[in-house]
Amino acid sequence: MSMTRSTLALAGICGVVGLGIGVAAQTPPATSAPATKMAAPAGAPTGKVASAKMMPTQGSNTRGELTFTQDAKGIHVTGSFTGLAFGEHGFHIHEKGDCSAPDGASAGGHFNPTSSPHGARDAAERHVGDLGNLKADPYGMARLDITDEKISLDGPNSIIGKAVIIHEKADDFQTQPTGNAGARIACGVVEVKGASTPSSK
Ligand code: CU
Ligand code: ZN
Repeated sequence: MSMTRSTLALAGICGVVGLGIGVAAQTPPATSAPATKMAAPAGAPTGKVASAKMMPTQGSNTRGELTFTQDAKGIHVTGSFTGLAFGEHGFHIHEKGDCSAPDGASAGGHFNPTSSPHGARDAAERHVGDLGNLKADPYGMARLDITDEKISLDGPNSIIGKAVIIHEKADDFQTQPTGNAGARIACGVVEVKGASTPSSK
């Protein structure tokens, strides 16, 4: 038994060293952006990946990163956020990819290509941009891991070039057309990964 334990301990040390080398050897992936835009049917798998960097609006401290990946069931959305008040915060795709206004108003209303009423993410009818609420913990942090069937990275429901907005308050899923979620506390534009101009990290 003592022999087994010491072997395991040694393996643990080797594992840590190996991990360090793996991180150091990481290189950025090569990208080859297609020269032409092709209209793919809605829901067709494209392998596209998009991202959004959430920056605080004036007077806010909320930040975050989002990744959108096409998979067989829809668009897999993952993200992490900091600087939130404890509790729920409305989370939407808005129709204009413009975060220039200090209060985020330049992003326009909820992305609604189907002219539907505002609603919860699992409602039969909703704006394409209605992605529910983020839930922040007592430390002001939130994580998101959902797969949505209405948003897309292609076609009429494509969110590429639109803005993601985090709100001050919870979306009530009732009030039209906003969910009464209050001020816009963070804004970020959805961009195809690797296609945008490299920015400082
Ligand atoms: Cu919103
Ligand atoms: Zn909405």
